[in-house]
Amino acid sequence: MDDPQQLQEAGLGEIAAATSPDALEVVRIKYLGRQGLVTGLMRGLGALAPEQRRDAGARFNALKDTISDAIEARAVELNRAALSNRLAAERADATLPAMPAAQGRIHPISQTIDEIIAIFGEMGFVVAEGPHIEDDFYNFTALNIPPEHPARQEHDTFYLPERADGSRLVLRTHTSPVQVRTMLKQQPPIRIIVPGRTFRADHDATHSPMFHQVEGLVIDRTTHMGHLKGCLIEFCRAFFDVDDLPVRFRPSYFPFTEPSAEVDIGCSRAGGELKIGAGEGWLEILGSGMVHPQVLRNCGIDPDEYQGFAFGMGIERVAMLKYGIPDLRTMYDSDLRWLRHYGFLPLDVPSMVRGAL
Ligand code: PHE
Repeated sequence: MDDPQQLQEAGLGEIAAATSPDALEVVRIKYLGRQGLVTGLMRGLGALAPEQRRDAGARFNALKDTISDAIEARAVELNRAALSNRLAAERADATLPAMPAAQGRIHPISQTIDEIIAIFGEMGFVVAEGPHIEDDFYNFTALNIPPEHPARQEHDTFYLPERADGSRLVLRTHTSPVQVRTMLKQQPPIRIIVPGRTFRADHDATHSPMFHQVEGLVIDRTTHMGHLKGCLIEFCRAFFDVDDLPVRFRPSYFPFTEPSAEVDIGCSRAGGELKIGAGEGWLEILGSGMVHPQVLRNCGIDPDEYQGFAFGMGIERVAMLKYGIPDLRTMYDSDLRWLRHYGFLPLDVPSMVRGAL
């Protein structure tokens, strides 16, 4: 096939018939490659007589240009076809409504626990935990709660069935047994914060049979009531994010602290709307006191060498106050609409970052 005319027709036919870039490449090599047909013709020029050579050279060059232009044009065509095939196959309907990003919400109780831990964490407290099912000793006796105390009564406390020795375990009625457990296994200094579930036979708009508390305990050689007050004032202001929040310590009684104080924060109820901050009203949010020497003794700590303070508060209560949640019971309904309204996005910054610390 050394007739350039014939070669051109054959080449153009094969180029037009190539249906993929790979097939086109095969045709290119067949004609224009180093062993290709057109290349072979050009190589034969040297054997021709000089007067034929010029004429033949011009024709062969024209042939080579025609073939390579045709290949290039066919390549563009094939690429365009491939693109429109892809566009047709991978077509995306931009008018479809966007899929909502599946984003969960943090329950206000979890959020509040995280915030409380963050604030006390800044003050050097570490988190401690204990079991929900307690021994009478940890829940009552070691805490100086006498046998006749109302807290031990059947209608307040969930008791488990009697064991072989006649004793009964309880669902812990507060987080204070974790004070006892910590002091029994660790010598001072102690600085713990204890979030957790607690149980009492109570059920109305502000009480649930299962609720959460957070306990605090500080024991050291010189820890005194001033530390208790400073620490809790600082906490209240950081947690409610009110720098000048009034905080009041009201004498009270707990069997495991002496002296004891309940902690109130200032509020106003102008126009029926509760507002945390300076005002004519007070809200109780915490129980606290200096750990009773008998409790220290019960836990193997010498009260002549060490002293300290403890406090406890209801997490639901402070969460309801901070976030304006009117009914405690809705916290446990697992109603998604409620959670979307009162819940938190995972990356919400705990208030301590903005707080007064
Ligand atoms: N345990 C007490 C309660 O449940 C709260 C408290 C804890 C009070 C620590 C004083 C000290 O009411």
